[in-house]
Amino acid sequence: MRKDIENINDYLTRGHNLTRNIKDIANQKMPPRRFKGKDLSDVTGVTLSRIYMAEKEGRLPAPDVDEVTRRRLGCTMQQVLNIQDYFGTSPGRSVNDEPVVLSFTNFKGGCWKTTTSWYAGSYLASCGYRVLFVDLDPQASLTLNCGILPDFETSHETSLGPFILEEEGYKESLVSNVIHDTYVPNLKIIPSSLQLAGVEYSLSNAISHSRESHENISKRLHWFHRVRDCLSEVKYDFDIIIVDGTPTLGLLPLNIIFASHAVIVPVPTEITDFASTLAFCDLYKEQAEVLYDFFGEKLESPDMLFLPTRFSPSEKNATLGSEFVLDQIRKTFGTSCMQSVIKKHESVVSNLSLMRRTVFDINPGDGNVSREARKKAIANFETVFDEILERVVFPKWSSKKEQLEVQGIY
Ligand SMILES: Nc1ncnc2c1ncn2[C@@H]1O[C@H](COP(=O)(O)OP(=O)(O)O)[C@@H](O)[C@H]1O
Ligand SMILES: [Mg+2]
Repeated sequence: MRKDIENINDYLTRGHNLTRNIKDIANQKMPPRRFKGKDLSDVTGVTLSRIYMAEKEGRLPAPDVDEVTRRRLGCTMQQVLNIQDYFGTSPGRSVNDEPVVLSFTNFKGGCWKTTTSWYAGSYLASCGYRVLFVDLDPQASLTLNCGILPDFETSHETSLGPFILEEEGYKESLVSNVIHDTYVPNLKIIPSSLQLAGVEYSLSNAISHSRESHENISKRLHWFHRVRDCLSEVKYDFDIIIVDGTPTLGLLPLNIIFASHAVIVPVPTEITDFASTLAFCDLYKEQAEVLYDFFGEKLESPDMLFLPTRFSPSEKNATLGSEFVLDQIRKTFGTSCMQSVIKKHESVVSNLSLMRRTVFDINPGDGNVSREARKKAIANFETVFDEILERVVFPKWSSKKEQLEVQGIY
């Protein structure tokens, strides 16, 4: 036994050193994305000539240029944000609109929940939205993806855990203290730590205690709204908040669901995973029925959208291939199924994960990703996330809704 403990300790020391090295390599090797040409005019919503004129007249700072060739290097995300700010073209909500909370949930692991959350946040940030990630999965993959080393650079105290559990000294008004920067200025994260695993148990104890001491409905309800309440103040610094959780349906995941305006359920286009998604729906229905009997309409449920993932159209050798299952998913979930699907982008996602970046954070040709593969992945993810914006985010923002009504989208 003692030997085993020593061995495991050695594995941990070696493994953690390697993870730290990879982080350092990623930071050195990955230059920031620079927006230029059409990319720059698209993201700022302003023609290049207007931008250049504003720079020339000193209304915007002079552009970064290559020291030797004196050619423009393109704008970093911070410079894009400054340009959007100057011309009033930031895409975010207006001050009267509520920030929108999204989560990607299913109780099966490997449905691409975390990766899709990460790519969604990264895409939205690359458009100029202010995005907050909240990592509530003790495995902390989203935290690691954002370049933060879980349990070295994070702890229970730097996660949302103590706020959720109302530990002494952790008032909701102090949640802003645990918001961490990432590699992009308008993308922040509340990181996770391994100790979040204990939150499920503590929540369950708190609810049992509440029941045994016959506390009133609002006190009991409060334990299902901890995540929502913890975000209630900080959310106003952001346009969109994306919460990542565990592949389970316990009290913490229920808290995530009740904190969300929309829950997006990734459904892999593979038959066993389709069956697990139905089981997920069944379990959620059972739990919702019990909660509804007790709390009635006091517990508001979010919009639910089903997002087909792991789609690989080339795999149509058998009748149970991707396309067949996609058809079943569409027939089952009807209008709640998204039109767009997430395709497999194997080399792009795995090469870039190593560098802790998504396709939206890199320049063409960087990160061991071919220009063609980058372009294809961007086009696919953009279609999916634009559909999410149109279906569940913009309808909550009256300013955007009016714009879309004029365009005939609603
Ligand atoms: N669009 C994609 N194309 C290819 N591989 C992907 C894609 N999205 C995710 N993956 C890979 O699938 C694996 C599981 O994804 P992950 O997001 O961690 O799932 P979950 O959070 O549901 O457990 C990861 O190795 C990830 O790199
Ligand atoms: Mg995950």
